[in-house]
Amino acid sequence: MKTILEQISETVSRGFEKAGYDASYGKVGLSNRPDLCEFQCNGAMAGAKAYHKAPIMIANEVAEVLKDESAFSEIGAVAPGFLNIKVSDDFLAEYLNGMRTGERFGLEVAAPKKIIVDYGGPNVAKPLHVGHLRAAIIGESVKRICRYMGNEVIGDVHLGDWGLQMGLIITELKKRCPDLPYFDESFTGEYPKEAPFTLSELEEIYPAASAKSKEDDAFKEEALEATKQLQKGNRGYHALWEHIMNVSVPDLKRNYADLSVDFDWWKGESSVDKIIPGMVDDMKKNGFAHESEGALVVDVAEQSDTKEIPPCMILKSDGAALYTTTDLATLVDRKNNFDPDHLIYVVDKRQEMHFIQVFRCAKKTGIARKDTQLDFLGFGTMNGKDGKPFKTREGGVMRLETLIADIRETMLKKITENHETDPQEAEKTARIVALAAIKYGDLSNQATKDYIFDTDKFTSFEGNTGPYILYTIVRIKSILAKYKDALSGASALPEVIGLPQNDAEKALMLEITKFSQVIALSYEEIAPHRICAYIYDVCNAFNRFYHETRILTEEDTARKEGWIALLILTRDILETSIDLLGFAAPEKM
Ligand code: ARG
Repeated sequence: MKTILEQISETVSRGFEKAGYDASYGKVGLSNRPDLCEFQCNGAMAGAKAYHKAPIMIANEVAEVLKDESAFSEIGAVAPGFLNIKVSDDFLAEYLNGMRTGERFGLEVAAPKKIIVDYGGPNVAKPLHVGHLRAAIIGESVKRICRYMGNEVIGDVHLGDWGLQMGLIITELKKRCPDLPYFDESFTGEYPKEAPFTLSELEEIYPAASAKSKEDDAFKEEALEATKQLQKGNRGYHALWEHIMNVSVPDLKRNYADLSVDFDWWKGESSVDKIIPGMVDDMKKNGFAHESEGALVVDVAEQSDTKEIPPCMILKSDGAALYTTTDLATLVDRKNNFDPDHLIYVVDKRQEMHFIQVFRCAKKTGIARKDTQLDFLGFGTMNGKDGKPFKTREGGVMRLETLIADIRETMLKKITENHETDPQEAEKTARIVALAAIKYGDLSNQATKDYIFDTDKFTSFEGNTGPYILYTIVRIKSILAKYKDALSGASALPEVIGLPQNDAEKALMLEITKFSQVIALSYEEIAPHRICAYIYDVCNAFNRFYHETRILTEEDTARKEGWIALLILTRDILETSIDLLGFAAPEKM
């Protein structure tokens, strides 16, 4: 189904043509002056130059031609040459009924593409902290939007599981328990099945080792050497690595599940280790990689660069692979396994240079096809109220679990304050609303910008917040439930949306019509915040309509049934939209 703007533009273009002008001037947009009209066309202004005629004259002629057009209730020319348009009630109701019955509410999608969304990117052996929140939330939403647009989409967590942190843990463990068989080079037997540490021990070992390496050069050297040995296939170290993975990954999975974030692939840097030698050989053979100060690099600077883009380093002088190397090898792996048309990396924007280098190197060397779209969605920092990166009250790194628990607690208090509820039910609802508060608080900001995580604001039931959106959906659901209760027996709910009965209803209907445009734009721009802005407008329009209309006590049955059908569409649109953002609404709250 064509979007409402496309449909109106077609009609106005026909008007231009009939009046003797080129149809291309008939493009219509949303009104800049909602107090005067709903839509506007500025084509007469552009036409004036081509036709050497005053814009107002052209606009008048077009308005005259279109004055009996059934889709419009008003079309008028105003100085200096705008066409102001209001759509007719019939047209609007018909458009909404088309949305109601159409697949994806009438949203048209292009031929499916294969897309990989790379997000999450946690480093194993470290608990998830608030720094991981944005990658998870934004990436999950981007993945869902891409999928809704009809594409075949893979979400890959891309674990940091092959770097120095592994060497650090191994080295620290060796200091603490030198007698473990993993450190005995003559050991040829089978290693224990049980890990020599628990999750909480692991979470203590890593920061301890990391701190030590910053003060103690010899320790750091040892850790670097252990990392190299691990990557070279040292049997004992590899067995330890497996233990680290087995202890750490289930915990990561649990944490992500708690956020309603799930990945199709749980691959990591380690999974592409075997690809690296062949890839590097190819780069050398084809003359892309050359030596520079002992290291192996690929030049990626371009003539048009306005800032310096250093060469992309492929191997360090000691032959070790780097972060760029694993990302390039991952591209090879992804091409072999899935051959994506488009890859979207949702990573902290401070890594922008890394991705410029990786993308350029991949294109130059043929690791990525020339027509593969590579996008870096760099997100800003989540700050506290003081404008500095979000911390605990004591100034430490806040674990993600702690943050989620805090918000749940706050929501639970608010929910139980409002009214009596079954404690278990309240707990469940608090979880759902807390997730909405956190995710909406994040996603309603443009991803690239820093934002302030403000608990009081995010958990409020008023204003541009997740709880407000959910509250509105629950309100609609409760009206529908009451209506259903009053229905006799097996009667079906009414389906057909009627003509708008008042301004508030028309305003709600007009907001809803924007769905297709908004979703398509959020996909094109990789911008979930567009969906937030849309549903906030829909919720405001709905609540205004609700306050001005006595729905359930209406005696005119046809009218009431039209409203119920409109409520159903509003609910469905809102629930689909929040699903694209990665959260859901409860039945009651
Ligand atoms: N593990 C990385 C980090 O903690 C993030 C990974 C992002 N994804 C990627 N393909 N490089 O910085």
